[in-house]
Amino acid sequence: MISFDAEHGFLKEDILSYQSDVTRIHHMIHEKTGAGNDFLGWVDLPRDYNKEEFDRIQQLAAKLKGKYDTLIVCGIGGSYLGAAAAIDMIRGLYPEEGPEVLFTGNTFSSTYMSQILKHIENKSVVLDVVSKSGTTTETALAFRMLREFMEKKYGKEECKWRIVVTTDRAKGTLKALADQEGYEEFVVPDDIGGRYSVLSAVGLVPMALAGIDINKVMEGFAAAYKDLDTDDLKKNPAYRYGVTRRILQNQGYNVEMFVTYEPQMRLVGEWWKQLFGESEGKDGKGILPDSVTFSTDLHSMGQFIQQGNKLLFETGIKVNHPTENLTIPDDPANFDQMNYLSGKDLDWVNKMAQEGTLQAHVEDGHVPNLMITLDDMKEYTFGYMCYFFFLACAMTCYMLDINPFNQPGVEIYKRNMFHLLGKPGYEK
Ligand code: PA5
Repeated sequence: MISFDAEHGFLKEDILSYQSDVTRIHHMIHEKTGAGNDFLGWVDLPRDYNKEEFDRIQQLAAKLKGKYDTLIVCGIGGSYLGAAAAIDMIRGLYPEEGPEVLFTGNTFSSTYMSQILKHIENKSVVLDVVSKSGTTTETALAFRMLREFMEKKYGKEECKWRIVVTTDRAKGTLKALADQEGYEEFVVPDDIGGRYSVLSAVGLVPMALAGIDINKVMEGFAAAYKDLDTDDLKKNPAYRYGVTRRILQNQGYNVEMFVTYEPQMRLVGEWWKQLFGESEGKDGKGILPDSVTFSTDLHSMGQFIQQGNKLLFETGIKVNHPTENLTIPDDPANFDQMNYLSGKDLDWVNKMAQEGTLQAHVEDGHVPNLMITLDDMKEYTFGYMCYFFFLACAMTCYMLDINPFNQPGVEIYKRNMFHLLGKPGYEK
């Protein structure tokens, strides 16, 4: 379903020479014995997910279908990036069906918030608030403003179906508020951290409300769980990818560029950056994850990649089948001199650009290039891809002796900010 190719990786070590490390770590992941092991709930999630809650998500989406034209997702980090990535990848950027989807609760920008509030003035809105802790300031502030807007516009009674909350099963102010107001509630599992939570209610609720078939997403997730449940490096492309990252960093490459040729996968790049960056970037270690969308960014970052500092390697994403295709029309006048492409598929041109770029970056630029190939950008593939990257990320972090599931560094800005904001308890 997903293939991984390191043919152009310039690897100086044999991936298979890491087999014994991989076997050891594979058991650590599956037997949940490594650092951060209380956050390994995602490992068996494709099998053990809460079926009752899953049905409730589908019922909610069916019940609300057609009753709103804008879905607002309010959350930050792992509480929105997965859903945002899925919705763009699966529906495309300008879908013909389904509600418009907006994301809030991920910024303090007053301009952004104010424009969102004006934009939704005459829309029929459903709001999905997602916060595991229920106390994240960006999300809580945005929710406070949106709730005020919605209560004024619809009244408290109607807000009971227009506001959906996903949070901890028992604790937090968001949980208490949801109980009090009677909002529909879903649970962020205790043993799954934000950036591994996209296929729990965290991402499934917004996906379903955006009109996505979450059954197919879970089918792909389950297929990857089965296919990738092997420590054999020859059979496990996720582990080969994880090992390859380590080999390349040992060779001095400290930046990884995620390269997509599909604009609707730009946010998959953002989600991937959070997954790898927040999991691996600690103890002074890790590869800096970055992302570009080609061919757009060949006209900006392409120059650096081709001829700049040799600090990076690329991980290209190839999509075999585009969601839609177009034939390039013929123009008898041929003013633009493009008739040599008349009758060709636009996707074929995209693929030739990818092939030509790979050649340029590898042969002329001497930039190591890895390739991950997806069949398409549909639900099943998204679910499969999530498990692939989760597993690769856990493997690559454990190989570096890093706990992939905490993010202690994120707290430092919060402490300073709370002090400056005068939050009680942060006076010093
Ligand atoms: O990956 C993570 O754990 C973080 O990015 C969190 O998802 C993010 O900080 C949001 O936290 P919460 O869901 O508690 O509001």
